[in-house]
Amino acid sequence: MSDDEQVSVQKDRIQQKLNEIRNQGLALLEEIQDEESLQEWHRSHLGRKAAVMDIMREMSSMPGELRPIIGKYANGVKQSFEKALQERAEAIKKIELERSLKKEQIDVTLPGRRPSRGRLHPETQALREISQIFVEMGFQIYRSPDVETDEYNFELLNMPPHHPARDMWDTFYTTKENVILRTHTSPGQIHVMRQFAPEPIRAILPGMCYRYEQITARSEIQFNQVELIAVGKNITFGDLKGTLQDFVNRLFGREVRTRLRPNHFPFTEPSAEMDVECFICGGQGCPVCKKSGWLEILGCGMMHPTVLKNGGYDPEVYSGFAAGLGPERINMLRHKIEDIRYFWSNDVRFLEQF
Ligand code: PHE
Repeated sequence: MSDDEQVSVQKDRIQQKLNEIRNQGLALLEEIQDEESLQEWHRSHLGRKAAVMDIMREMSSMPGELRPIIGKYANGVKQSFEKALQERAEAIKKIELERSLKKEQIDVTLPGRRPSRGRLHPETQALREISQIFVEMGFQIYRSPDVETDEYNFELLNMPPHHPARDMWDTFYTTKENVILRTHTSPGQIHVMRQFAPEPIRAILPGMCYRYEQITARSEIQFNQVELIAVGKNITFGDLKGTLQDFVNRLFGREVRTRLRPNHFPFTEPSAEMDVECFICGGQGCPVCKKSGWLEILGCGMMHPTVLKNGGYDPEVYSGFAAGLGPERINMLRHKIEDIRYFWSNDVRFLEQF
């Protein structure tokens, strides 16, 4: 074989090898689906240890006339690798984007999750509603303290020490002599009168009361009351009755009838309790009204002359009425809640219903 022939054979051999390297490399590249494998391919096919690079390094020992031919050919392989690599990189970017879109895909037609909403306690709702009605009728809201003295809670309300009527109000005493938790909102009558005498008064006094009682389904040691008071000249029992009837109508609706039953409180004379027609059975008689057809909602009466005097009003000139109603009781009747303990046990399953 002549030198020329030898060179030609060597050229063919190397070119064939390069073709193999290219075809194999490109075939492998086509399979690649992710960035990491692509980097790997880059290192093994274009890095220092790549087969094309080996051939380029071998060029120095090739016959002179072969070098430019092989150099060009090897370069061609390198360039086709680089071009293919770039294309594959773009393709992989697209694949990865699609993959992540699929992963993050949200179904906009799915129903949303409802956030749980805060709401007002049923007692707050009832107190606001009751206050609203009286405010519309021209009453002002007056705040009086939860902590009282024996004097305000009893004595000034016409119950001197050892008065038997005190038994109606089981009392929480404190370690401080004469300081007690109010058993009703009535001591507020004295506060509001002493502040405004001799001006006429129309006010409601809402707030928490405390009684040292056995806790049962019907009685709690704490509960709200709304005290109602009107003082002025010529205030009559008719005013009391009309005011309460109007209140009941606004609260329960026009149809509900009421009745007054005589009763006794030391701080009112005459005294009464007001019943509303049972709105559960419509007066027919049911378990809630204990078959009577009537529900008791408040105590009331004309203010006792002694109480007026203690408040700073001359009972010869002034008269007044007072009432005390229980919002929990009204709430229980309206929502058919059979146990008063639900109100202050803070069970969300109960509170959520309002
Ligand atoms: N304070 C009384 C009670 O707690 C209710 C009442 C208030 C009665 C005002 C008459 C007048 O039972």
